[in-house]
Amino acid sequence: MTDSAPGRNPLRGRRVALGVTGSIAAYKAVAIASSLTQQGALVDVVMTPEATRLVQPLSFQAITHRPVAWDMFELLAATEIGHVSIGHGADLLVVAPATAHSIAKLALGLADDMLGTTALATLAPGLIAPAMETNMWLHPATQGHLATLRARGWTVVEPESGHLASGASGEGRLAPPEMIVDVAKHLLAQGGDLSGWRVIVTAGGTREPIDPVRYVSNRSSGKMGYAAAEAARDRGAVVTLITTTGQQPPAGITTVDVEQATKMRDAVVAAFAEIDVLVMAAAVADYAPIEIAPDKIKKSGSSMLLELALTPDILGEVAGLGSNGQRPLIVGFAAETENLVENARAKLARKRLDLIVANDVSQPGGVFASDANKVTMIRSDGTSIDLPLLPKIDVAHALWDEVLAARRAGRGR
Ligand code: PMT
Repeated sequence: MTDSAPGRNPLRGRRVALGVTGSIAAYKAVAIASSLTQQGALVDVVMTPEATRLVQPLSFQAITHRPVAWDMFELLAATEIGHVSIGHGADLLVVAPATAHSIAKLALGLADDMLGTTALATLAPGLIAPAMETNMWLHPATQGHLATLRARGWTVVEPESGHLASGASGEGRLAPPEMIVDVAKHLLAQGGDLSGWRVIVTAGGTREPIDPVRYVSNRSSGKMGYAAAEAARDRGAVVTLITTTGQQPPAGITTVDVEQATKMRDAVVAAFAEIDVLVMAAAVADYAPIEIAPDKIKKSGSSMLLELALTPDILGEVAGLGSNGQRPLIVGFAAETENLVENARAKLARKRLDLIVANDVSQPGGVFASDANKVTMIRSDGTSIDLPLLPKIDVAHALWDEVLAARRAGRGR
């Protein structure tokens, strides 16, 4: 998973109250606090008294560079921080790990410690990541309390199956810290400059089957498409990623898994009427085998011929589904090894795009599978912008800046 460009990360400058309760997994909350802090959040750790027996508050203080709250009465005596002020100031409340006991208290609204008062006093959205022994997790009491919290708007990051503190293996292990932080980012992205937009991004190289074990494909890793999807998510858009890679997307992104160009076409066309923007970062095969052998083709002779036929031109097809003003904004990519800008301009015009992102796939270091890309973006009026070599997430944010500018200039519906 890529990290958002510094200025665009929805965590930057936001106040996150991190509730830590008395689970053996409490030590993993140090990694959560660290990641939130490194990404620019101001993290106020609120520990239950039980949690302080497992991890020293000083560990969190050293990581977050902020005081840690755990003793409500000591805080009440110190005039600066009241028992509700962390809750009032928070943009997001994260409780990780959450024990069965703390989940029950939060569901009931008990306020006998700092976490309880913070949770009742805040108007911020809540995220809770339970961790406990399997039977406790599956118990109707725990599930009932979680249902109450969900109904109240809390987001639950469910535990995984795996090795537990009891020595047994089963459901109840705290979700990975990076997943919890990513869900926090998704929640804080609401209200970004793409809020209310529904976008589709395609990613990866299509695989055109020859027989049950072989296919024709290309070197696309999907990284550019995933970065475009993540950047849109981080700016508040509702994102669907149509992908050939099968990789897990960042939190909050819906995926549609496809392999062939025809299936990608079907998925794009099915959603096209409902979206505001289409970004075609996928490397779609231009040709696919005419026949798919039902069984593995046996080796025979010193050569073989494979007959290929044109695949559907997805961009060409959807661009014809409406004129500007009645159709979504459409962004294409051009992967070229020669005459980059000239070829990209021709594709922009032929496919009636609002923007094309041209990348020279023969550049030293490579574009495929790399975390960086050097692109030229060409607008529908012919003007262009050359970007330096940048991390793909930064290229993605530049793309969305251009899409926003095009929309403000009256393009798209
Ligand atoms: O995935 P990575 O490893 O991160 O690499 C990123 C990338 C190089 C794949 C990406 O940046 C990129 O350039 N994607 C487009 C690759 C491509 O197919 O380019 P093209 O010039 O062949 O196609 C032009 C446009 O038409 C593309 O937006 C493509 O998605 C689209 N197309 C192509 C063929 C087809 N049958 N239908 C299409 O819609």
